[in-house]
Amino acid sequence: MTSGYLSEREARFLMAAAALAPAQGKNLEIGSFKGRSTVGLAYVTRELGLGTVVAVDPHTAPATTDPDLRGKTSSYDDFVANLRTAGVFERVEIQRVYSHELAREWKDSIRFLWIDGDHTYEGAKADLDMFKPYLVDGAIVAMHDVLGTFEGALRVFVEEVLDSDDFGPAGFSGSIGWAQYRPRDGKAARFRRRRRLLAIPARQLIPVARRADRGLHGWNKFLYKLWRPLAPHGDVNLKYLAAVTS
Ligand SMILES: C[S@@+](CC[C@H](N)C(=O)[O-])C[C@H]1O[C@@H](n2cnc3c(N)ncnc32)[C@H](O)[C@@H]1O
Repeated sequence: MTSGYLSEREARFLMAAAALAPAQGKNLEIGSFKGRSTVGLAYVTRELGLGTVVAVDPHTAPATTDPDLRGKTSSYDDFVANLRTAGVFERVEIQRVYSHELAREWKDSIRFLWIDGDHTYEGAKADLDMFKPYLVDGAIVAMHDVLGTFEGALRVFVEEVLDSDDFGPAGFSGSIGWAQYRPRDGKAARFRRRRRLLAIPARQLIPVARRADRGLHGWNKFLYKLWRPLAPHGDVNLKYLAAVTS
């Protein structure tokens, strides 16, 4: 598998969600690194004829939350090589810039938004705020490293997605938080109830993640282990995902 930061469960979820989002438009990935998620998205959307994949990343690991480049100055060469090896290079529109630079010229509808760039609160919130206006009804938003130890990404997912009636069905798979953009009926009781239930443990994990910058220890580790299982984050059943997002 292409090197990168996505578990097999998360990769499975990402590809399924991109395949099933019942909407037309582009698939935007913010944060590609060496292309692990890009390859999955490009493959599934090519096979099903589901819009271009745009991959935005300056490839310099600029955020404090980014992976280490291990002595290199860029992940770009590995990224391109991995796309070519996987046979999906032609499918991906590469944008070697910051997400805020791309946002300045963005005009297209988005059917699938994958946020895996800057995981600080400011960075993750800006990514959602900048591209939310382009989501089409039915689009799916997925954010990586939400159910982990990145306080910022988790806070944005709880406050801007789970707490918002613009979104309908929602859930977790691995550390991914996902939701379907449904301004037409996101406030329906069945969606609100589910989002509120998910937000209970997720909100409790925000201070836990804040204190975990040097790893999980002692009482904080106990709280993490207490609250995380209460936010269901296993494999998402495909029939369920198809039915709930249709
Ligand atoms: C966790 S990695 C992405 C992992 C990748 N999705 C995978 O599947 O392996 C985060 C990436 O976000 C990029 N990044 C950080 N800040 C960014 C920004 N403002 N706009 C776009 N990309 C950004 C970094 O350069 C880094 O490559």
